[in-house]
Amino acid sequence: MDLNEAITGRRAVREYTKEVVDEETIRRLIDAAVHAPSAVNQQPWTFAVVRDQSVLDRISRDAKSHILATMPANSHSDHFRSLLNDPNFHIFYHAPVLILISASAQGPWIVEDSALAAENLMLAAHAAGLGSCWIGFAQSFLNTSDGKNALGLPPAWVPVAPIIVGYPKAAPPPVPRNEPQIRWVG
Ligand SMILES: Cc1cc2nc3c(=O)[nH]c(=O)nc-3n(C[C@H](O)[C@H](O)[C@H](O)COP(=O)(O)O)c2cc1C
Repeated sequence: MDLNEAITGRRAVREYTKEVVDEETIRRLIDAAVHAPSAVNQQPWTFAVVRDQSVLDRISRDAKSHILATMPANSHSDHFRSLLNDPNFHIFYHAPVLILISASAQGPWIVEDSALAAENLMLAAHAAGLGSCWIGFAQSFLNTSDGKNALGLPPAWVPVAPIIVGYPKAAPPPVPRNEPQIRWVG
């Protein structure tokens, strides 16, 4: 797939078929992820591949409770609160796979490095006919000791990018972008 087509055509996918994503395909996505640049070439990323639906169900439940217990009052609160209180809302949308990118090293740029790896992974998924979506709702819970324990992550690791992957049920419509603000200097 042409790079520009991949960049403009990738969408956050929230409805998946039950089709299994095979191990070789998952490894190809991870290979794309590790080709991202990283500060001082530290490559701090690690990948947890979760295909066990009972684990994803449990994390979805716990992450919803965690957010509800810790969320500050703000303009998104009402919408989020009703979504998170809905027992039918699954934060991973029943996707067949979650790939969690966590940093195993310390350093000032581990989040940026992991996010760059995540974008490579999502673009590679789109090019392979897969859908993906970064699930920010999972992040705060996965960063607790209970969250890390749920996936057997060492306490010092920093979960950054929970990305669901699967075959899309349908192609989501384009999502409009704002006109970029550009300040030309010189
Ligand atoms: C850091 C981050 C966190 C996100 N968290 C969620 C989430 O928890 N649930 C969800 O459905 N989408 C989530 N998204 C997806 C965004 O809503 C989506 O990327 C945005 O609406 C633009 O749509 P597009 O990806 O199709 O261009 C997240 C995206 C990012 C980058």
